[in-house]
This record gives sequence, structure tokens and C-alpha cells, in this order.
Amino acid sequence: MSFAELWAELLPLGRDERTGGYRRYSWTDADAACRAWFARTATGLGLRTDCDRNGNLWAWWGWPGEHAAIMTGSHLDSVPDGGAYDGPLGVVSAFAAIGRLRDDGFRPARPIAVAAFTEEEGARFGVACLGSRLLTGAVDPATARQLRDRDEVSLAAAMRGAGRDPGLLGRDDDLLANLGACVELHIEQGSMLADLDAAVGVADGIWPHGRWRLDFTGRPDHAGTTRLPDRRDPMLPFAATVLAARAAAEERGALATVGKVAAEPGAANAISATVHAWLDARAPDDATLAGVVGDVWTTAQQQAARHGVQVARTQESVTPAVTFDSRLRDRVVAVLGAAGRPAPVLATGAGHDAGVLAGRIPATMLFVRNPTGVSHAPAEHAEPADCEAGVAALATVLADLAGQ
Ligand code: GLV
Ligand code: MN
Ligand code: MN
Repeated sequence: MSFAELWAELLPLGRDERTGGYRRYSWTDADAACRAWFARTATGLGLRTDCDRNGNLWAWWGWPGEHAAIMTGSHLDSVPDGGAYDGPLGVVSAFAAIGRLRDDGFRPARPIAVAAFTEEEGARFGVACLGSRLLTGAVDPATARQLRDRDEVSLAAAMRGAGRDPGLLGRDDDLLANLGACVELHIEQGSMLADLDAAVGVADGIWPHGRWRLDFTGRPDHAGTTRLPDRRDPMLPFAATVLAARAAAEERGALATVGKVAAEPGAANAISATVHAWLDARAPDDATLAGVVGDVWTTAQQQAARHGVQVARTQESVTPAVTFDSRLRDRVVAVLGAAGRPAPVLATGAGHDAGVLAGRIPATMLFVRNPTGVSHAPAEHAEPADCEAGVAALATVLADLAGQ
């Protein structure tokens, strides 16, 4: 099947008709529909499918074990009202590239594996790249089982509800031993390729990044009768903290965002009892990231004390700086150049499963041009011709890495 046909099949799954964005959260009905699409597509291509102990999906062209496989793919889950491309582009392109190689009569000397990692966005359980972190042992399985979504449903309960055994979660060295290299294709989440007039790029590295939950606890009371000096309003230190995040990022050449907040109980005519806020911070190096987060935390504590509010901080996930394997990157750049598909090398501030796997196996990424750079939003887009260029580039790279 062509890229366009595969894309059209996946496109309606998990899309919210009102916003046009995707709500493909792990272990939900939308996720199950995407998983069924993955299995159907892989089976149609004659690939053997498998779900690993951490819920990540695999489709194998060739038997794992004989030689370490070249793995590609990405993820199918989304952020709330995410775009169609972040994640799915890598999975659809992987299947399309395999279809193209097969049609060309290519026979891989090493197996090729397509992966769809679970909960890459951390949109339901808070930990980004949860499936790949569990696979590599970067997350403790007992802690993971206790993670809760906004309705207090644990990961363990959600997995059981989807027919999976959460008792199996954990580092999977046997599977990792079957993987020789990773090539994740992803839509670019910026506009560097558009500026460079290139359809496809190669990743250099990923900025260190992470997310932290800040819980401000005050005293709920009446908005119309409580005198200002008597209030313990958690909204005030929260607001100061948001501004401090922006200032720290500007001062240190980094990025900091508070994109999610929940005020409880949420009455328009009452002082809140609690405000929960999530800080996402990213920086060019680990020390700068620590500096930004430290500045924000100092302000949160000072402002909380000033307003008689308690504040607590929980680190939900952190990924240190990733530098992708330079030999693999140079080989990918060379093979694309030789095939008449020159691809510039770019760094990114976005997190990826390939970045987690890079700690265990040589990994690299291909980026496909995003004309506006918009991502994590319904307007995320790649032109069909650039998607095709991505498939062609991925097929070229897979043929090189999995060939004789
Ligand atoms: C994933 O897309 C991330 O960078 O948050
Ligand atoms: Mn994303
Ligand atoms: Mn992604």
C-alpha cells in the first residue's frame, strides 16, 4: 500500500471532530483503534507482529535473533488536540518504506523492525517516552504501575482494562539485544528545513528537557467576603511562577512553558484550594536546564511563603542532552547524499523515543519538513510530496543499514 493509502486509513482514528485535533491517549479506545490499524497494516505487509511486555508494538520483517535488527517507527499517541503527524508520520513512513523496498525486490540481510512506542507524549500518565523508558530500564516498573491519569486511574488498571498484564512491565534486555540500530522518522517541530529549502533532515541531538509538577496549596474561601490580607490564595504564587519561568528562559537562552494548569475546586466565586501546574523546560545543555528549573523553583517557594501557601515540586520526567551516534549520523548523511537526497543536520528541542534508545543502541532520526513549524496543535502539517520524500529517504537508509 502507498503512503497516501496508509495515511488515509489512520487519519480519522482518535480525531476530535470539534477541534480537528487528536486525542490518542494510551490504553483508551482511540489507542486500541490505532493498535488494530498497526496490526492490520503489518499483517497486510506479511510482517510478524508482537506486543512487548511494556505495551510497545512491533512488526518484524525477518526473524529477530539471527542478526540484530534495524528498527524504525515512532509512536501513535498524541498530546491533547495534537496534530496528525507527530508520531504517526514515522510509523506510516516505516510501513510505506518497507512496502517500497519489498516491491523493489529488496531482501534484508538483517531484520527490520517497526515499533510504535506507548505513551511517548506522557499525555495520560505524565511521563514522556514511557514505553521506551520502561524498555530500557530508565523508569522503575513499580513506580510506573502507580502512575495516575487525571481521573485517578492507574497505569496498571488502564493496562488491565486493555487486556495487558502490568505485572510484566520492566526492562527488556532480550528485546534490546535484538536491536542493532534505531532510525526514527519524525515531522520536524520547527521550521529549519523550510528555511533551508530541504524536504528531509538528519538529527544531530536533542536538547535536555523535562517536566515538573508544582502543587500550590492554599485555603479555599469566599471571593466576595474574604479580606485581601486574610487570603491564602494559591493562584498568586502560581501566577508569579509562570512569569518567573518566562524570565528565566529569556535570561538563560532556554525554553520554559506552563501549558497545563488545574485549579481546584474551580469555582469562579471562590479562592482556590489548590493549583496544580506543569512546567516544561528545555535548554541547550544540562547545566542551563538545571539553572532555569532552579530559578523557577526559588520564585515558587518565595512567592508561596509570601502568600501563606504550601508548594511542592515533583519531577515527572527528565531527559539529559542526547547526542546521536556520530558514525551512524555520518553514514545516513552520506548514503542520502549519494542517492541524490542531501539532508542537512539539525538539533531539536523536542523529545523522542530515539533519544531514549540512544543510551543503549546507535540511534539517529530523519526529520520531514514542516512548512509552518507548528506542532502539538491541529495545524501541524507536512506536504504530501515531502512525506513521500521522507519515505524514499527512509527506504534508502534502511536498505543501506539492513542490506548485505
Ligand atoms: C514530545 O513531543 C516532546 O518534546 O514533548
Ligand atoms: Mn510530540
Ligand atoms: Mn513525537
